[in-house]
Amino acid sequence: MRKIKIGIVGCGAIGTELAKRVCDEFKDKVRLVSLFDIEMEKVFGLQSILKKKRLVALNLDDLINRSDLVIETASANSSFEIAKKVVSAKKDVFVMSVGGLLGHPEIFSLAEENNCFVYLPSGAICGVDGLKALSLGKIKRITLTTKKPPQAFKGLSYILKNRINLDAIKEETILFEGRVNEAVLFFPQNINVAATLSIAGKNPENTFVRIITSPEYSKNTHEIEIEAESGNIYTRCENLSHPENPKTSYLAVLSAIATLKQILEPVKIGT
Ligand SMILES: NC(=O)c1ccc[n+]([C@@H]2O[C@H](COP(=O)([O-])OP(=O)(O)OC[C@H]3O[C@@H](n4cnc5c(N)ncnc54)[C@H](O)[C@@H]3O)[C@@H](O)[C@H]2O)c1
Repeated sequence: MRKIKIGIVGCGAIGTELAKRVCDEFKDKVRLVSLFDIEMEKVFGLQSILKKKRLVALNLDDLINRSDLVIETASANSSFEIAKKVVSAKKDVFVMSVGGLLGHPEIFSLAEENNCFVYLPSGAICGVDGLKALSLGKIKRITLTTKKPPQAFKGLSYILKNRINLDAIKEETILFEGRVNEAVLFFPQNINVAATLSIAGKNPENTFVRIITSPEYSKNTHEIEIEAESGNIYTRCENLSHPENPKTSYLAVLSAIATLKQILEPVKIGT
């Protein structure tokens, strides 16, 4: 069987772990052919960790040319442009920075026209399977409550602009409450899961986000409440952070690996 050629854009916490798995446990079905990052030293560093040669792409076009499936693990600022380029080249794309796709439904019609696939992993939450099923009927409201320790929000422009002193927070504090479109703009690295919920629920107008922080929190928690015509769902995930990136939950990395497994395996479990 011909191996699927994989290119990874973004060699940070998730990209590195996916690259290792691709070269190890998935090596019978896929081949890592290319890596790209705006910080070139990260590409060379990862290539050396993997003990491989000729993985370094000169630019995004070079990576797309070499790949059948492009995995985006870069940033919400760039994920739409990356996905658009990949799908325009009639290749499949796997997007982790789902927040960047919100407000760009054209990516899904382009994929349909070009006969290719856009994969959006569940990421750091559970319940997307039930939501997809419920969305066949009417979804009334989706509410995501995200709780993370203050350091997960360090450096965000929303925090700087609103002069929030994260070090001075001593108790549970609501940082944001509002619609998903705003949450994704203000918290691009923290709230991809809100975008995933909104896309899966096909209802951005009725998807709401609450972001709470406290120095007492040691885990990243996502609680989801879905109210639908066919029933209600409540889920809660308590996630440990990725050791290399406190903004990223480790479950998100595992979800990416599980999605890749699902693509490659003949038996597909879950909605
Ligand atoms: N869907 C989810 O549930 C979920 C969960 C966690 C993280 N994420 C998202 O996945 C992405 C990767 O997460 P991470 O923890 O690996 O982040 P990271 O910061 O550890 O790594 C991101 C890497 O991408 C590179 N990069 C940024 N913009 C780029 C561009 N335009 N082209 C090429 N490279 C670029 C950076 O230099 C960095 O090396 C982030 O956008 C993050 O928000 C999604």
